[in-house]
Amino acid sequence: MYITDSFGKVYIDLMNATKGIVLAGGKGSRLWPMTTVCSKQLLPVYDKPAIYYPISTLMLTGIRQILIISSPEGIQTINRILGDGSRFGIELSYAEQPAPNGLPEAFIIGEKFIGQDPVIMILGDNFFHGHAITEMLRIEPHEHAKIFLYKVNDPSRYGVAELNEKGRVMSVVEKPTHSHSNLAITGFYYFDASVAERAKRLSSSGRGELEITDLISQYIAEELLSAAVFGRGYVWFDIGTPQALNDASNYVEVIQSRQGISIGSLEEVAWRMGFITDEMLRRIAASMPRCSYKSYLESII
Ligand code: TTP
Repeated sequence: MYITDSFGKVYIDLMNATKGIVLAGGKGSRLWPMTTVCSKQLLPVYDKPAIYYPISTLMLTGIRQILIISSPEGIQTINRILGDGSRFGIELSYAEQPAPNGLPEAFIIGEKFIGQDPVIMILGDNFFHGHAITEMLRIEPHEHAKIFLYKVNDPSRYGVAELNEKGRVMSVVEKPTHSHSNLAITGFYYFDASVAERAKRLSSSGRGELEITDLISQYIAEELLSAAVFGRGYVWFDIGTPQALNDASNYVEVIQSRQGISIGSLEEVAWRMGFITDEMLRRIAASMPRCSYKSYLESII
């Protein structure tokens, strides 16, 4: 359950201890008309469907049990693309969110899946990258709930956290018109097993949704919320607008072609994490049509 790093610091070993939820529904209205033909999370971020990137982030933290939640239309295509996850050495299950009633609804839909365990939720349109990203996303044993913050230029587009001088989160606000803070709440959240019960206590906001900021506020009120701020060396995109989608694609293309690596390849992550063997990776690559994705996998074995 716990691991100790080289500085003697103790963390929760996410492997086996935590489950993951990928929330991949929503309206995708800002990406219209692209989202009339497929859900936002299946749009390409350079050479892979967007949802590959958040799933790979969860896998890199050691999580192997993942629930994917999407709209009734989206869930079938996502299921067709990813299957039961055995090809990546993970266990994928699927659930529908009949309407985009807000992020905390994922914990109500996923209540059975969560059971008595803590859970990490990542949004299906979020993209994280940077050196030692999994160190950054570590959870310590005493933590009940944790959010990850990123400095942005335009805080009014995001949920924003206000910190006191000791770095504790004092409040969180959804899309503030005026805010003293430029720290956006990214789409990677850690909550203890009480999260489903807490989500059920929420009521809809003025925009008719359950709000993640209201859920986080419950943990703030009980002094149970931790936060970490991403430093300069990390990249976070949420691909909610055409420009952000294009920026993320360009980023992936530049890094991949400069460094000869792949970002967000589920087969590669599964292999590097030891979830699948060399032989499995070889067979998976052999089953792919001739393409650069296949050539890359063949080159790393
Ligand atoms: P948003 O980008 O806030 O919403 P959206 O996807 O509906 O897009 P738009 O505002 O352009 O209409 O959602 C963030 C992520 O959460 C995204 O991956 C979609 C997902 N989501 C759900 O799956 N269910 C929901 O009820 C909501 C609100 C979002």
